[in-house]
Amino acid sequence: MILIKLGGSVITDKTQYRIFNRDTVRRLCAEIKDSGVDSVIVHGAGSFGHVLAKKYSLQNGLVDPAQVPAVARVQYDVRELNLMMLDELLNAGIPAVSVPPGSCFMMADGKLLLDDPEVLLSASRLGIMPVMFGDVVFDRNKGFGICSGDQIVEVLCGIYHPERVVFVSDVDGLFEKDPKTNPDSKLLTEVTSELLSRVSSDSSVDDVTGGVRAKMEAMLRMTSPERDCVLVNGSVKGRLCSLLKGERVISTTAKGGL
Ligand code: IPE
Repeated sequence: MILIKLGGSVITDKTQYRIFNRDTVRRLCAEIKDSGVDSVIVHGAGSFGHVLAKKYSLQNGLVDPAQVPAVARVQYDVRELNLMMLDELLNAGIPAVSVPPGSCFMMADGKLLLDDPEVLLSASRLGIMPVMFGDVVFDRNKGFGICSGDQIVEVLCGIYHPERVVFVSDVDGLFEKDPKTNPDSKLLTEVTSELLSRVSSDSSVDDVTGGVRAKMEAMLRMTSPERDCVLVNGSVKGRLCSLLKGERVISTTAKGGL
């Protein structure tokens, strides 16, 4: 099976609070369905999560009572996003259910605790896709914290043992420098940890979960001799479908572990 993370940069407009890219999501759901692959989707929070999470520093855990209403608001916003995602998945013919991390699981010092995967596996056995997403999750030690979709994907690797993990973003892959501010930057088709240490960590948008570098590090941690991990541009029509079918497309593949 293939684990797919639909990044917030492709399913939302990350620069504007709560803007859902419905047309893109509709197309991506159809591409996943058309590819015919067995998959589980995780999605990011985009502007439904990052804007308020950054404003109230929710990634730091509880430090100020003023953060508390923001915790509830962000949970509400990312659930709305998740329901819109599910609507598109159902319309594409993919039976999918919501598994909100903030309601189903805990964290301890920022680490997602998913000791009992019975809900997830029961859905999968029935041919229903359990869909998790970047969320605010209660934390045993810090009160609450941000759980990113990338973190969820990492944990799900230990549960589903996917042969491939695909991160869908709005860039062609990892560039030597941020392509939004450096149009001449070169695409890296393959990334190793040694190469990553030389890549610029600039990012043109606000992101409480660390931007492209954190994503690449997470991707490298998920690789193994049996599993590659690919970053692909979901804004380009047909590219995700081709990749899922095993065709070669413009993308960055993480190899060799961290
Ligand atoms: C972030 O999740 C969760 C919140 C800010 C609540 P992600 O880090 O997976 O979201 P994207 O993909 O970067 O938008």
